[in-house]
Amino acid sequence: MIEASAPGKRPAVSAVTLAARKGTGERTALVTAYDAAYARLAEEAGVDAILVGDSLGMVVQGQSSTLPVTLDEMVYHTRMVTRGAPRSHVVADMPFLSYQASVEDGMRAAGRLLKEGGAAAVKVEGGTTVAPLIARLVAAGIPVMGHVGMTPQSMHLFGGFKVQGRTAPQRAHVLEDARAVSAAGAYATVIESVPRDLGAEITRAVTALTIGIGAGPDCDGQVLVMHDLLGLDPSWKPRFARRYAELGTAARDAFAAFTADVKSGAFPADRESFE
Ligand code: KIV
Repeated sequence: MIEASAPGKRPAVSAVTLAARKGTGERTALVTAYDAAYARLAEEAGVDAILVGDSLGMVVQGQSSTLPVTLDEMVYHTRMVTRGAPRSHVVADMPFLSYQASVEDGMRAAGRLLKEGGAAAVKVEGGTTVAPLIARLVAAGIPVMGHVGMTPQSMHLFGGFKVQGRTAPQRAHVLEDARAVSAAGAYATVIESVPRDLGAEITRAVTALTIGIGAGPDCDGQVLVMHDLLGLDPSWKPRFARRYAELGTAARDAFAAFTADVKSGAFPADRESFE
């Protein structure tokens, strides 16, 4: 039993312990984090693992896709997260074009995320095409999380961030990708934005732990982007996400209250001033 706010008592989680959950019925919770402060909170809350997603391109950098994110940026954010959550299993995303051109590129990119970022695993998007890279990474001692279904780095190919696997050929393709990722040695795979019955079918078909986001309740675990979970952007509420807090509204109200207090002279008061 994991106690919230008791990081010292938290059992260590690794790719091995997560993989061993397959078939046991124990569900796995991942959240994204991009800096030390939120990573620390996630660790204290007892999440099973932290993903440094290239979604940081959108939620932190304000870009319209994940494509511009660089490997240097991923290393930088991964380092912050591993500093803030030193006991957590931290997975770092391989950004667009850090691995698609060659297996060697992918090996070196993954190596940087572990050596410089301190990650314990990397995540790659794709299926049959990235299977040779996954096998090489695993052979080199690097645990790999796959990512199939709606893979955001292929958003131009999909015509946007669209649910995948609704047609028979798409469904067969997503299933084939998931099987390839698992057979290549990935210990887990994200399944993003597919019909719930496909999420369930993949979970039954593969040995890798399945982590859903918009893939229904029958995956082995779930992941959410922390900004969606915390309501950091009050104007954005994707169907697959659930808000557990309204931090965006709370932050905006706090900024407004501070501004009003400065203008009225109410801040700082005597207790906030030095003698
Ligand atoms: O980049 C990311 O945050 C992700 C999750 C949505 C799974 O890939």
